[in-house]
Amino acid sequence: MAIQKIFVVGAGLMGSGIAQTAIVNGYDVVLNDQRREALERAQMGIQKALEREVEKGRMTQEALEAALPRLALDDTIQGAKDADLVIEAVFENLEAKQAVFSQLEEICPPDTIFASNTSSISLTALAAATKRPSRVVGMHFFSPVPKMRLCEVIFGLLTAQDVLDDIKEVGEKMGKTLILADDKPGFIVNRALLPMLNEACVIVGSFIGSVEDVDNGMKLGCNHPMGPLELADMIGLDILLNVMNVLSKEYGEKYHPSLLLRKMVTAGFLGRKSGAGFYIYENGKKMGVNPVLTQGHKL
Ligand SMILES: NC(=O)c1ccc[n+]([C@@H]2O[C@H](COP(=O)([O-])OP(=O)(O)OC[C@H]3O[C@@H](n4cnc5c(N)ncnc54)[C@H](O)[C@@H]3O)[C@@H](O)[C@H]2O)c1
Repeated sequence: MAIQKIFVVGAGLMGSGIAQTAIVNGYDVVLNDQRREALERAQMGIQKALEREVEKGRMTQEALEAALPRLALDDTIQGAKDADLVIEAVFENLEAKQAVFSQLEEICPPDTIFASNTSSISLTALAAATKRPSRVVGMHFFSPVPKMRLCEVIFGLLTAQDVLDDIKEVGEKMGKTLILADDKPGFIVNRALLPMLNEACVIVGSFIGSVEDVDNGMKLGCNHPMGPLELADMIGLDILLNVMNVLSKEYGEKYHPSLLLRKMVTAGFLGRKSGAGFYIYENGKKMGVNPVLTQGHKL
């Protein structure tokens, strides 16, 4: 099936990045959100991001002018009625995602592909909420979507091969390298990455090394572009904890979330977005290690 029209549900961080990448690469996109202000913010963000690309010489003015009219906004879901592909990027919640798919079921043609950008939810469980389980697939993009080159494709128990073929074509046209994963919690990347971030929390929580030494160790010794604790702060400590809970439920003890990670989330240190995690942030700038992690209590 030649895919031309993409309906993106959820105009947050990921949905707007997916929409931007798709219009730049020639797709017609309807971006949907329940909240009008989210749609307007996403549209403005996309326009600004593309203008910046032109200023930096990475995109021509003509390409910008061709891309922007390919984006339409919709807060009703009626815009999905002639979509070839839906990419869902609403909150990471099974019931919310199932509700989106079951509403779209009534509107979309029977062969429309339903893709989800979920980081941890089972594609087989999402497919079970539809009458088209063979056309449900995972398209796991990474943040920021326009810059990150990976898209992890996940097949559920019933996903059809022709759906994977179509998704491969779309992903590659969007400039991504695709990797294929079976529908098991964590898929490939988070299953390997998140236990590493969790272990970095264990190391700090066990006083084996300081926050900065753990990050420098992985940056300078392993050539990682960011330290694991900087990355944990960027992802959000609450999100890291949620996914570790999912992995631990499925795979047991080895994936148990670190005590320090659980305490940080309980104390409201959620990372960059809350202004403090392993580091303190002011106006998005990293200011230093969170002092709660360096204080030497005495009696
Ligand atoms: N943030 C990341 O780094 C990242 C990376 C990979 C995957 N993901 C996954 O992508 C998905 C979205 O994450 P995000 O960070 O963009 O979230 P976000 O909170 O920035 O955006 C979610 C958007 O969905 C909208 N929404 C909620 N319910 C809706 C509905 N029923 N219909 C239409 N719109 C609805 C909200 O108004 C909000 O604008 C999640 O499943 C997440 O796990 C996130």
